[in-house]
Amino acid sequence: MVRLLDTALVAAAVLGTASYAQKIVADCGVGLGNCPSNKPCCSQYGVCGVGAYCLGGCDPKHSNSLESCVPAPICKDIDSTFPNLDRIVDKTKYLGDSSKADWVSDGEPAIKDGNLLITMAPGTVGTVIASTNYVWYGKISATLKTSYGKGVVSAFILLSDMKDEVDYEWVGVDLHTTQTNWYFQGIPNYTHGKNISLDKDSYKDWVTYELDWKPDSITWSIDGQVGRVLKKSDTWNETAKGYDFPSTPSRVQLSLWPGGLPTNAKGTIDWAGGEIDWKAGDARDVGYYYVTFKEVKIQCYDPPSGAKKQGSGSKSYIYDDRAGFESNVVMTDKGTVLKSFLGTGTNMTVEPAKTSSKGSSATGNSSPSSSDVETIPGLTGAGTGVNGQRGDGSGSGSGGSSASSGSGDVSGGSGNGFSQGNTQSSNPSEATGQKVIKGSMLAVVVAVVAVIVL
Ligand SMILES: *[C@@H]1O[C@H](CO)[C@@H](O)[C@H](O)[C@H]1NC(C)=O
Ligand SMILES: *[C@@H]1O[C@H](CO)[C@@H](O)[C@H](O)[C@H]1NC(C)=O
Ligand SMILES: *[C@@H]1O[C@H](CO)[C@@H](O)[C@H](O)[C@H]1NC(C)=O
Ligand SMILES: *[C@@H]1O[C@H](CO)[C@@H](O)[C@H](O)[C@H]1NC(C)=O
Repeated sequence: MVRLLDTALVAAAVLGTASYAQKIVADCGVGLGNCPSNKPCCSQYGVCGVGAYCLGGCDPKHSNSLESCVPAPICKDIDSTFPNLDRIVDKTKYLGDSSKADWVSDGEPAIKDGNLLITMAPGTVGTVIASTNYVWYGKISATLKTSYGKGVVSAFILLSDMKDEVDYEWVGVDLHTTQTNWYFQGIPNYTHGKNISLDKDSYKDWVTYELDWKPDSITWSIDGQVGRVLKKSDTWNETAKGYDFPSTPSRVQLSLWPGGLPTNAKGTIDWAGGEIDWKAGDARDVGYYYVTFKEVKIQCYDPPSGAKKQGSGSKSYIYDDRAGFESNVVMTDKGTVLKSFLGTGTNMTVEPAKTSSKGSSATGNSSPSSSDVETIPGLTGAGTGVNGQRGDGSGSGSGGSSASSGSGDVSGGSGNGFSQGNTQSSNPSEATGQKVIKGSMLAVVVAVVAVIVL
């Protein structure tokens, strides 16, 4: 299940040179309620804000209104190979135009030998890239080599803004097992996991993992061999009188995250194979752990029969009810692009107030901001923590998101320019531990994509 790391860390690309981690405090989600009107969008990780908070991952159930989240770009067939990073855009630069990039990154993607590396350097919480377009049923495949090592978790998942989720995950201590799982609307039911054993070595060998997601079934196939099938008809929930089946538009997410951080719950660490050793394996030899992607394909299926449409329904998905069932998805011609990070679904054209400053200073205090609310959610390490064994009960009531993990302390942050938000910050506003990326920075935000030099 996608959730915050137990440490509730976020690493953000910040001004200057380095990523750092910070605590975040979840403020929207199950048990926490909805976002206020001045920061209406509830991010994937349960924090309220504007701008990027209203784009991919924005949770319509817990945002201020149903219109707070920006319409989600409609499914588009893609075949991603990775000769360079051109089709991957950093989250600090993405305003919702999915024609310009296929993936949005949070962390440090890199290219090596024509393949994509999703990296996790010592002390960081890893990297995630998410598709800019949503998939509402389709065939999605990824040819990849997993990471390896204790506590290191590689993932290839589908996740909807309603927290429907379909997973492949690999823990780095078992290179011959692929873990599969699914969740419905983030309900933390940990009994759905199933393992598929692998003849090959997931770290050394290319393997193609496929999700064939149809309105009435999900099939997990590995190198063309069916490993698991979930039928919608087997998910009937008598109490709710509905199917607990993943059925809402989802982003494809590829990630690497540290299940074995010492500050994580014991159950999570155990599941991940123990505490991460930042001085071993690829962290020692190359400088970071990594997953390697050779190719990712998305083939869109037709929307389910009876799907609602406004106009030609060719551009985006919205919801017509917070319930978030398949029948609440509407295909529309609404735009998906914000004019600036001050925008939200209810006003996509807001722009930062013009200031006299030329906007070259990246100090973040060169001009008064027109908004004090956060505009770009932090990284939470991909946080795909599907984990039936988690023994801490932290999943309960969390609605499958970060909601329950709003506190916790940082550790494992060893050097690498990575520090806890309240220790090494040069900007006093960061010392509160609640970094605010101010709207005024818009003009001057330089994406600090610390692309690893290979
Ligand atoms: C979890 O899901 C299974 C099968 O889908 C179901 O039988 C079980 O009752 C669920 N558990 C809870 C606590 O809802
Ligand atoms: C899958 O395998 C892992 C070890 O690789 C184990 O920890 C986990 O319990 C297994 N899950 C299931 C559902 O059997
Ligand atoms: C049925 O749905 C309810 C409400 O969503 C949920 O709490 C319950 O766990 C579900 N039951 C099963 C068996 O999954
Ligand atoms: C959107 O915001 C801009 C700038 O704040 C304002 O001028 C405009 O009237 C707003 N539009 C709507 C539809 O609220």
